[in-house]
Amino acid sequence: MTSQPESLPSPLLFADDWGQEPERIATWLMRCFDSPDYQPPVLPGIAMRLWHLTSDDDVSIFDVSKVLEEDSMLTASLMRLASSAAYGTGRSLRSIEEVITRLGLRRVRELFFQAAVTERVFKAKRYERPMITLRDHSVTVGYAARMLAIVSGADEGHAFLCGLLHDIGYCASLVALSERLPSEYRPDVSLVWSALVMHHEIVGSRLFESWNLAAELSPVAVHHGSQVLKGSVAGAIVALADALAESVGLGVPNEKADVDVEGALNVIGIDAGTLATVREQLEIFASAGDV
Ligand SMILES: [Fe+2]
Ligand SMILES: [Fe+2]
Repeated sequence: MTSQPESLPSPLLFADDWGQEPERIATWLMRCFDSPDYQPPVLPGIAMRLWHLTSDDDVSIFDVSKVLEEDSMLTASLMRLASSAAYGTGRSLRSIEEVITRLGLRRVRELFFQAAVTERVFKAKRYERPMITLRDHSVTVGYAARMLAIVSGADEGHAFLCGLLHDIGYCASLVALSERLPSEYRPDVSLVWSALVMHHEIVGSRLFESWNLAAELSPVAVHHGSQVLKGSVAGAIVALADALAESVGLGVPNEKADVDVEGALNVIGIDAGTLATVREQLEIFASAGDV
């Protein structure tokens, strides 16, 4: 007989009970994140290095290529994403130089970051399907946030990161359930989802602390579902991008985007017509299968 895992509080002996009391799951998750042996999902260091390297407009293609050579798998994914971003599907970009010339360094670093996060972080045994839903949602929100930043004159790279990572707390929670529990104790996602909806923002902020991204991202990640962000450009962009993703069918189940659209538009300084144009572009992006 398999014994109950040590880290599992005794009231959680029967996995089927989990869904009845989301607070218990939340308590278990928080205990898990606080325990000294907890290892958060790792953000590939190469993605951060490339991000910082390409923040300098004078960086050379040679320097960028040198970094990319360190991870051929992610670079292959970058080439695929870049070809799709440049032409739609079907035609390939052949070299890093061509990718950078065609898309620009800033877009290249975003696509590389996207490849690193979606391929190395959005993975958890037993939770493959919800991870795909979260991945598609996150990439769509990142893309929408970037477009909103462009039309409003905000920092598009920061907006993209905030959008891509705003719901990362779901992923960290699923990874914890997958890695910290023996397979027979891993609850079906339907039983834990409401707890994850309630607590993913705070879980996300803890992950950002461990990734040293708290200063840039925590305010957006922690409060993206609330009204706390009134007045914050990045917050308004992510809130609108979240709602846009939901409106094109790429939302997160049971997490209704509840955004004060008029207020958010005022904060970022665009009108409803511009928002509608961004939504049209997002619909094309989503229907092209670029997510
Ligand atoms: Fe969320
Ligand atoms: Fe979201």
